[in-house]
Amino acid sequence: MLVAGTSDSAIMLEWAMGELMRNPSIMKKAQEEIRETVNGNTISDADIQNMHYLKMIVKETLRLHGPPFLIPRISRRDCVVDGYDIPAKTRILVNALACATDPDSWEDPESFIPERFENRYINYSGTDFEFIPFGSGRRVCPGITFGVGIIENALTTLLYHFDWELPHGLTPHELDLTEGTVLSTLPKHPIEVVPVIVSLET
Ligand code: HEM
Repeated sequence: MLVAGTSDSAIMLEWAMGELMRNPSIMKKAQEEIRETVNGNTISDADIQNMHYLKMIVKETLRLHGPPFLIPRISRRDCVVDGYDIPAKTRILVNALACATDPDSWEDPESFIPERFENRYINYSGTDFEFIPFGSGRRVCPGITFGVGIIENALTTLLYHFDWELPHGLTPHELDLTEGTVLSTLPKHPIEVVPVIVSLET
C-alpha cells in the first residue's frame, strides 16, 4: 500500500513533467487551461474536474509510462487464447505497457499526444484492454482514484505556480527520457527541471 501509494504516483509525476518539458507547446496549453480555470491562489477539486486537457495529459503519461507488468496470474484450467493452448497452472505475465503502445490499437504509439483522448472515450478502470495502467479484474489497483488524484493535484500545483526551464542550457529535444529497467518504468536518469517564479493576478 505504502510503496504503491507513493512511488507509482511520484514516478508518473516525474514522467509527466519530463514529457511536458520535452513538448513546450503541450506545457503551454496545459498552463493556459490551468491558469484560466483557477481563481485566486487555491486550487479546488472542482477546478481540476474542469481541466480536460490536464486529464488527457495524465492519461497519456499513464499510457506511455505506466507499469510494464501486472501482478502475475495463474490459469485455473486448460484454455485456448487467440489460438494458443494455455495449460492449467501456467504463470501469466501481462505486459500492460505493450498493450498501451500496440500500433494496432494506437496511432503513432511512441509519441506523447494527449489530444488522442479527445474524441476517444477510454478509461483506465480495466475494461479497455489496450489501456490498463492500473491492471484489470480482481487484482485491479484499488488506489486508482487516489493515485490519479495525487498526480492531477500535484501537476496542477506545479504548473499553476511556476514556469519551468531545463537546466544546463538543455533544449527540449536534448532531454533524456530513456527508461530504466525496474518493475515500474523509472526514467534512467532523474529528470531535472528549474522552477521560475511567476506573478499571477489574484
Ligand atoms: C499512478 C499511480 C498508480 C499506478 C500506475 C498503479 C498501478 C498498479 C497496478 C498495475 C497494479 C496491479 C494490478 C493488476 O495486476 O491487475 C496495482 C496494484 C495495487 N495498487 Fe496501485 N497503482 C497506483 C497507485 C496506487 C495507490 C495510490 C495505491 C494505494 C494507496 C495503490 C495500491 C495498490 C495495491 C494495494 C495493489 C495490489 C492489489 C492486489 O494485490 O490485488 N496503488 N497498482
